[in-house]
Amino acid sequence: MKVTVVGAGNVGATVANVLAQKKFCSEVVLVDIKDGVPQGKAMDIMQTAHMLNFNTRVVGVTAQPGDENGYAPTAGSEVVVVTSGIPRKPGMTREQLIGTNAKIVKSVVDQAMKFSPNAYFIIISNPMDSMTYLTLKDTKLPRNRVIGQGGMLDSSRFRYFLAQALTKAGYAASVTDIDGMVIGGHNDKTMVPLVSLATWRGVPVTDFLSKEELDDVVAQTKVGGATLTGLLGTSAWIAPGAAAAALVEAIAMDEKKLIPCCVSLEGEYGEKDLCIGVPVVLGAKGVEKVVELKLAGDEKAQFEASVQAARDTNSKLGDALK
Ligand code: 2OP
Repeated sequence: MKVTVVGAGNVGATVANVLAQKKFCSEVVLVDIKDGVPQGKAMDIMQTAHMLNFNTRVVGVTAQPGDENGYAPTAGSEVVVVTSGIPRKPGMTREQLIGTNAKIVKSVVDQAMKFSPNAYFIIISNPMDSMTYLTLKDTKLPRNRVIGQGGMLDSSRFRYFLAQALTKAGYAASVTDIDGMVIGGHNDKTMVPLVSLATWRGVPVTDFLSKEELDDVVAQTKVGGATLTGLLGTSAWIAPGAAAAALVEAIAMDEKKLIPCCVSLEGEYGEKDLCIGVPVVLGAKGVEKVVELKLAGDEKAQFEASVQAARDTNSKLGDALK
């Protein structure tokens, strides 16, 4: 599979680095506007090929917005991962990036589409739910081909914090034994970690953790990205990059994995004209099925609040949608 990764910043380079080590990936094209950076990062990754024993070709390409042929080296990509845009700084919300990033994402997607009209698009740029909606509207692609990455990452953070809490409670739990899902928007305030469905090897975590402990896990999960931004001075990249690469792998290998992704709802969950995180089956045809969970009580109300927040952010897309 040939994959294009747009944006050679921390997240983009991590996606390229993880993909380089996957057997299904024959070529990764890393694109950026800053000359030297994509080439340098591609070269750095390629200099691990012998040590890590991979044959993937990683190439760096510079392309300016509006440059007609800038994306020619990306031609025929089966997946395009969009990481372009500015990252948040400590104290900023993802939503505050919308003005700048909408322009960037629109221009990137237009250029990439020209050379890879059959590609699946994976959107990471923030605010991710609105950038996914913008991509869907801009490209007019069917919804199975426009996938926002947020739920994979947030669910992974949720599992990590659950394992930490179980360990603190004396159970020494391994993260890979934890199952848990986060739906809703990729938003510090309104993402919805589904405590009712979280298990430790199939046993509900509610059997082991108190309400206070679980409330703390939920609170930490929601601000997982902001916590890392505070620690690092910029937004996280290792887990976000790995999360995007996992979505590429699910498509490449036709894995049919159940993963919460940001997708366009067409009546599911009672919503239309909105991209938000819900569980989907991800396989060779991208989003092969949107799975409707029976949400009840608090979790239903929280999902509805997340929907409202995503709609509010979309309303700020303004001219980018034209
Ligand atoms: C995060 O949550 C970058 O939005 C991403 O870390």
